[in-house]
Amino acid sequence: MKLSAWLTAANKHRTTRIMNVEVVSPTVKVFTFQDKQCAKAKPGQFLMLWVPGVDEIPLSVLDVDRERAKVSVAVKRVGEATKALHSMKAGDWIGMRGPFGNGFTLKRGKILMVGGGVGIAPLTFLAKNLASGKTSKIVVVIGAKTREELIFMDNLRRLCEEENVLAATEDGSYGVKGLASSLAESVMAEEKFNMVYTCGPEPMTRRVLDCAEKVGIYAEASLERLMRCAIGICGSCVVGGYRVCRDGPVFNINQLKTFKDEFGVWKRDFNGKRIPV
Ligand SMILES: Cc1cc2nc3c(=O)[nH]c(=O)nc-3n(C[C@H](O)[C@H](O)[C@H](O)COP(=O)(O)OP(=O)(O)OC[C@H]3O[C@@H](n4cnc5c(N)ncnc54)[C@H](O)[C@@H]3O)c2cc1C
Ligand code: FES
Repeated sequence: MKLSAWLTAANKHRTTRIMNVEVVSPTVKVFTFQDKQCAKAKPGQFLMLWVPGVDEIPLSVLDVDRERAKVSVAVKRVGEATKALHSMKAGDWIGMRGPFGNGFTLKRGKILMVGGGVGIAPLTFLAKNLASGKTSKIVVVIGAKTREELIFMDNLRRLCEEENVLAATEDGSYGVKGLASSLAESVMAEEKFNMVYTCGPEPMTRRVLDCAEKVGIYAEASLERLMRCAIGICGSCVVGGYRVCRDGPVFNINQLKTFKDEFGVWKRDFNGKRIPV
């Protein structure tokens, strides 16, 4: 272990009070708090949020306000820590470390973003950054199981223009019936893009990457693996020859090609056992 990784300002544990909690879907809440260090985050970076007495979990940064040192994260309720966090209110104490990881590279030109479920959170932060630059067009494909779980549609419509935000729901309650990856495939077949960014369930990101490779578009995907240390020491997040916490969580299409037998196929659980994705 390199002592320097351990000693960075980002890795120092801090505590703060939750400033605001917003319900954005039946299973997702947005938490906003102040932290100078995390407010420096770039799109695609993540932080480790400590729910006192429960666990510390990795969460992508949804937005930052650098001047006021404010940070937001979107949290889907799935298990113990996220359930405990969902029960917390403004004024409650939380802890954090970060920001960690590399983040997306900012490209110009015609951009396609494909986000599934809460995976749309880091892409919304990315869209905000790209929309303020010289990007000519951003098309967003957003997928969820139901209409109620489609989150951040209004923000994305404001940033990328209404007609460029396309939705897919598995039950057909809004937009196209089916998977976001299928909708993204038809969008890529119809229009040429300079860059594809994707984040969401791994079978979806794998399909999007395979399609981008087929049509010859450069792409980046944000991956999830179990995180404990978040600074490249423990090895729990290894995929291919990479540590997702330090080398990722964003990987480009050339890196992803090198671990195709693993990406979208299997991952390790808390005991190190291989489980299907
Ligand atoms: C880089 C990264 C960014 C993420 N960003 C977001 C986000 O913006 N919003 C969001 O809602 N979720 C995000 N997640 C997933 C989130 O970390 C898990 O949902 C959370 O840790 C679940 O904890 P739990 O105790 O509620 O559930 P548990 O019952 O403990 O776990 C449910 C599932 O969540 C995953 N998980 C649990 N612990 C961890 C861990 N320490 N590291 C990684 N995965 C874990 C596992 O797949 C597990 O099967 C991200 C994960 C990673 C790795
Ligand atoms: S979480 Fe420990 S090496 Fe990545």
